[in-house]
Amino acid sequence: VRGHSGIRSLLGETAKQRAAAGLVVVLGVVVAALLALRQWPLGAAGASLILTALGLLALDGRRRTGDVQRRLAQQAESTRGLARAIESTKWDVGQISRELSALGEAFADGRSRHASLLRRSVGLATRHPQEVEALLQLYGKISPTAPMPPAGNWALNPTGVLNLYAIVERECPGLVVELGSGTSTVWLGYAVTRQGRGRVVSVDHLVSYAEQTRSAIDLHELGAVSEVRVAHLVETAVDGEIYQWYESEVLADLQQIDLLFVDGPPGDTGHDARYPAVPQLLDRLADGALVVLDDVDRDDEQEIVERWLKYAPALARETTVVGDQAVLRYRVSPPPAPTDHSPAH
Ligand SMILES: C[S@@+](CC[C@H](N)C(=O)[O-])C[C@H]1O[C@@H](n2cnc3c(N)ncnc32)[C@H](O)[C@@H]1O
Repeated sequence: VRGHSGIRSLLGETAKQRAAAGLVVVLGVVVAALLALRQWPLGAAGASLILTALGLLALDGRRRTGDVQRRLAQQAESTRGLARAIESTKWDVGQISRELSALGEAFADGRSRHASLLRRSVGLATRHPQEVEALLQLYGKISPTAPMPPAGNWALNPTGVLNLYAIVERECPGLVVELGSGTSTVWLGYAVTRQGRGRVVSVDHLVSYAEQTRSAIDLHELGAVSEVRVAHLVETAVDGEIYQWYESEVLADLQQIDLLFVDGPPGDTGHDARYPAVPQLLDRLADGALVVLDDVDRDDEQEIVERWLKYAPALARETTVVGDQAVLRYRVSPPPAPTDHSPAH
């Protein structure tokens, strides 16, 4: 079968080619017979017929070879086009998967922010009695000489004020530094006045709020113990990162801080806006000082506390009873031994 098909392909690829080749072979035999019989004119005519047929066959072969080459070139081109299409589809798929993962991250971020907001709102709604309790306790401690500036919203909640007030009562700080002035500045002024010791320096990055707080201080006649300074926010390098932080010259004279209350700058001034407080002011803290950070019910503030504790091993978190504040004690030497006030038996 293989030999038969070999002869077939030798004669030609198509039936027409094979028929023509067969005819040439027959003609060749006839011409050979004519020449053997010395029939020269007929033999010559036959031979020229064979040559013409062979020439036609060769021309047809060339045409077909050209067709095949063209088809091969077309196929190669379409293969290259296919390869290009596959490459571009691969890039598209990569791009889609990148966009999907970015979308996933944004969704997860949005969900966690939403959950945090919900937690805060539920917290605010359910702790109404605690806030009332805190107000009752605060107004049991002082009798303001003028209307108090409002608590809540941008200002501290009553529970936060109560926590700060209790710290001043317990610790009797000499120097209180507050970052972010407002209602809390007035309460701190009353607290140190009542203790009969200490002063409050409050720092604000906005002139308008600093002036508002100064007016409240004047109204409550707390100028002898309270001061408000304007310190604009400037780009400051902390731990190799750039933050918007209070200009250092305004805080330069503040040494041996006993209570550092961090309630500014506001979060909308930059990422982790309050983080620089510890790296920038740690060496100004007195041994045994307290650092208080408000709003630790927020994820960002919780993260700041974690970073502070890592940054400064001399800081340790203390427990609090009221308010959403983290209270950290700065201790470089062992705490003083407790005095024994127990009655002798
Ligand atoms: C959280 S507030 C400080 C609040 C302050 N410790 C108190 O208890 O009232 C931080 C900063 O936000 C700015 N600020 C205060 N009230 C604001 C308001 N209603 N809108 C925009 N910024 C305000 C002031 O510059 C302030 O220093």
